[in-house]
Amino acid sequence: MPVTTTTESLTRITAEALVVGIHAESPLSGPAAEFDRASGGLLGRLIETKEVSGKKGEVATLLAPPGVKAGIIIVGGLGPKESLDRGVAYKAAAAAAKTLASKERGRVAFYLADNWASELAEAAVCGSVVGCVGQDLYRAKKSRFPLADIVWAGVDAAAARRGEILGEAVNLTRRLVNEPPSEIYPESFANEAVRVAEASGIKIEVWDQSRLEAERCGSLLAVARGSAREPRLVILKYSGGKADEPPLALVGKGVTFDSGGLSIKPTDGMKTMKCDMAGAATVLGAMQAIAQLKLPVNVVGLCGLVENMLSGNSYKLGDVLRARSGKTIEVLNTDAEGRLVLADVLDVTVGLNPSRIIDLATLTGACVVALGNDVAGLMTNDQAWCDALKSAADTCGEPVWQLPMFADYAEQIRSEVADIKNVGEGRWGGAITAAKFLEEFVAGKPWVHIDIAGPAFLESAKPWLDAGGSGFGVRTLVELAGKTS
Ligand code: BES
Ligand code: MN
Ligand code: ZN
Repeated sequence: MPVTTTTESLTRITAEALVVGIHAESPLSGPAAEFDRASGGLLGRLIETKEVSGKKGEVATLLAPPGVKAGIIIVGGLGPKESLDRGVAYKAAAAAAKTLASKERGRVAFYLADNWASELAEAAVCGSVVGCVGQDLYRAKKSRFPLADIVWAGVDAAAARRGEILGEAVNLTRRLVNEPPSEIYPESFANEAVRVAEASGIKIEVWDQSRLEAERCGSLLAVARGSAREPRLVILKYSGGKADEPPLALVGKGVTFDSGGLSIKPTDGMKTMKCDMAGAATVLGAMQAIAQLKLPVNVVGLCGLVENMLSGNSYKLGDVLRARSGKTIEVLNTDAEGRLVLADVLDVTVGLNPSRIIDLATLTGACVVALGNDVAGLMTNDQAWCDALKSAADTCGEPVWQLPMFADYAEQIRSEVADIKNVGEGRWGGAITAAKFLEEFVAGKPWVHIDIAGPAFLESAKPWLDAGGSGFGVRTLVELAGKTS
């Protein structure tokens, strides 16, 4: 989706469609006022008759608008001026792009505003790149036609380029999540990572089955054992900072399909479990953007890739695993596999001497019960690091909420036969007991766990985004990496 910029006026530009932003409860200004003048007061009349209000997320389509060369104008609501932020800008542009992508189009020009700060512009450009892509990868009859020629007005070229890089990274994550498990499995995900790394100047190492055995990753390997697909561990290294500066570590759960294993999931719970590698896909998307933006930081990205399946070789309830760190784990539910994968990946991460760690995982249904589908859960051992992440997420408009890590909850994962067990007592507070399990493997390093089981995958479409992989977290991670430098 090549994005370019223009200084041409809204009335002069040759484009098939135009997008104009308006604010609720304020007089028309910028491009909206310009269109209103050119059209003989059309927009003003539509506001007067309450056909258009400018409220957040509103998308009004005007056909054959007078005064401009385009045959269609989308008026995108930006909400009240005071509450305009990056999340609003992202969603408004994405909603307009999504509407326009319902058919094949030529040039589409965005005139959302004329004097936005570059961060707002960047978020909006990102939205325009993300909103027009759907999940119809395997449909002959497409429902979305990604905009091939996006022109942004009132945006400087550098901000537009940054927005495009971000948008493409979000779309990479979404595509990997949307691919069926027949296409994306540990080995093919690792191949995608190699392609991304080579194209973006990131060093990459891929551990295969025998390397994982040599490294005694007994916890991750146990989960992988029931599958005909071999596991992989991908380690990406981007060096944009000083040579001796310890890296920021991004760690992702990459269960390319979660059947639940012998603790098998019912059909309803299993049918979207191709999304269980969203954490790993988010890490890969963020690494691509961080490298393409040339952020002055050192970042390592680790993706723990396995398929959780059933076979005569599956790991069993009652098994005791020895994790890479040496800790022993009693398995009481093979569907609590994500933490077993992450246990070893976090241990490898600690070995890379990171300054701070973030992991992302579609880890628990309990987190969705606690916070709903739209909000990710944050759990941490370091409040300042969690605050930094929260503030980056708020800035980007990605909703997150912290859950407590009470020490007493760690008692729930003590085992009678091993050091720890992979489930808590009963299902209550399951997001927290899962995080308590992960905490056992971060060796006290500043760490935030983001449970993205809710927002990583949309069961139904949002006004600004089709259903399927959402790319949640990519923008926050890139924002945070930028701030960490
Ligand atoms: N991948 C699932 C969690 C999940 C649920 C992700 C819904 C996305 C949407 C995870 O591996 C899982 O099965 N967790 C169990 C843990 C339980 C067995 C302790 C769960 O949440 O039920
Ligand atoms: Mn599971
Ligand atoms: Zn899972």
